[in-house]
Amino acid sequence: MTGSVFLPSEREQLAFGAALAERLPPGSLLFLEGELGTGKTTLVRGLARRLGVSGRVSSPTFTLIQSYPTPQGPLVHADLYRLADPAPLLELGLEELLSSCRLAAIEWGEALYPSYPQAAVLRLSYAPPGRSARWISGPPQGSWSGSEAK
Ligand SMILES: Nc1ncnc2c1ncn2[C@@H]1O[C@H](COP(=O)(O)OP(=O)(O)OP(=O)(O)O)[C@@H](O)[C@H]1O
Ligand SMILES: [Mg+2]
Repeated sequence: MTGSVFLPSEREQLAFGAALAERLPPGSLLFLEGELGTGKTTLVRGLARRLGVSGRVSSPTFTLIQSYPTPQGPLVHADLYRLADPAPLLELGLEELLSSCRLAAIEWGEALYPSYPQAAVLRLSYAPPGRSARWISGPPQGSWSGSEAK
């Protein structure tokens, strides 16, 4: 496990997301944790761009789950901040959605961790004026510095 990656601005946050998109294999599940405003959605925006999503990628705070088509299969983005109990999501076929997607990135998904022990978990933190990222579980293989992501 390497240490924290410093992401000095939104630009590096996007670039780090783009690097993740290239290095996480098809079918990957990525949990993004960290306080409000630590750049989870920004990072998803970066990986969406690299996967070829051209439209706007906004926070699915109210829709909970948003799926974007990409040439390699859907990108699933979820924000479960408002969800106290994830059981209904599992019943509604989250499993199936995840098994057929290119990549799933889930914000505030801590309640799902026990159901997906194989998932990668990235923790984002404030590191004024930027942010930092640290793997809690899952990747990294090799270097994951933000700067190489350009
Ligand atoms: N590395 C960074 N350095 C400085 N500002 C950043 C960085 N990454 C993102 N930001 C900014 O932080 C703000 C919050 O970003 P974002 O919405 O992605 O956070 P979030 O973790 O998804 O928040 P929430 O928990 O509310 O969903 C945005 O204004 C974004 O531009
Ligand atoms: Mg967000």
